[in-house]
Amino acid sequence: MLRSKIIGTGSYVPKKIVTNQDLEKMVDTSDTWISTRTGIRERHIAVEDSSSEMASKAAKNALKAAGVSPKDIDLIVVGTVTPEMTFPSTACFVQSHLGVKAGAAAFDVSAACSGFLYALDIADKYIKTGAAGKALVIGVDQFSKLVDWNDRATCVLFGDGAGAVVLSAEKGSRGVLSCHIHSDGKHWEMLYSGNPCPPSPFEERKAANQYLVMNGNETFKIAVRTMGGAITEAMEQNKLTAEDISLLIPHQANLRIINATRDRLKLPDEKVYTNLDRYGNTSAGSIPLALDEAVRLGRVKENDIILFVSFGGGLTWASAAVRW
Ligand code: ACO
Repeated sequence: MLRSKIIGTGSYVPKKIVTNQDLEKMVDTSDTWISTRTGIRERHIAVEDSSSEMASKAAKNALKAAGVSPKDIDLIVVGTVTPEMTFPSTACFVQSHLGVKAGAAAFDVSAACSGFLYALDIADKYIKTGAAGKALVIGVDQFSKLVDWNDRATCVLFGDGAGAVVLSAEKGSRGVLSCHIHSDGKHWEMLYSGNPCPPSPFEERKAANQYLVMNGNETFKIAVRTMGGAITEAMEQNKLTAEDISLLIPHQANLRIINATRDRLKLPDEKVYTNLDRYGNTSAGSIPLALDEAVRLGRVKENDIILFVSFGGGLTWASAAVRW
């Protein structure tokens, strides 16, 4: 049976760092409030890089780690809700930036913070059916262009960044074991943003309510419930117990949400990877960015069982299990 083996990971964050102390100068907030309520201390903000540039840099790093030439890629799937333009897709820009062969397939998936796991699910199915031999799966978002920098309730939460993996069709027991993706559109008003592409002047966007809008408290509750359910689904399908899990890499939105999920699973702290203190919530970039960091730090070893779980605007939620 063919499986999608992750043969390389990569990530990219823009250079500019905005700390909680920097935000104290911009809105009525404090480092104490942000770090105790969310776990976030700083985030990277894109000044020079666009979504497709961040995605391409992350993908280039993943291809290098995999030892794969862009010419060998058959499929590019990008999870993003902050695309380079309305169209063409960010994936097509990535194809052009990297020199991926003409004739490969490239498209974007819109599932907010679940974008990477949605993209992984789709690419996994192309690989398993033999429709693609090698795929680039990327999560990228640039929420700095969606948030109202005068709104303390939202601007402190997000950062910009990208992560990518290279999937290869291989026989054996290692690779993606399962993906589960879900949505419930009736909760769309919990978290949304108008179309910011192309960006319009501040006043026009405000009038059109194009900034990100979020019901933080309700999103929090739904996140804890749906992430727990998605993990249970992955564990049941693969007949896994908590002891079998080597590392849980959750969407990095809020440390309290992550800790609630950890407690529900009765996982020890060292089996849960977090890096949101340094990046904030990078939406679709969050899981592959954390994965790449974990891999490069040696936290992921051959045959380890890695679980991924996400939730986001839509509402969407998803999980994936991988034997590394
Ligand atoms: N600094 C200081 N005070 C603040 C700030 C801030 N940055 N933001 C809000 N406050 C105030 C509020 O005004 C409120 O004041 P009040 O009591 O005088 O009315 C008080 O702090 C408490 O506000 P709450 O919203 O109740 O705070 P809560 O503990 O719920 O934390 C938070 C808010 C961090 C947003 C939390 O609800 C959360 O993380 N929710 C999930 C959000 C999320 O994960 N969104 C991303 C989804 S993924 C995607 O698809 C993008």
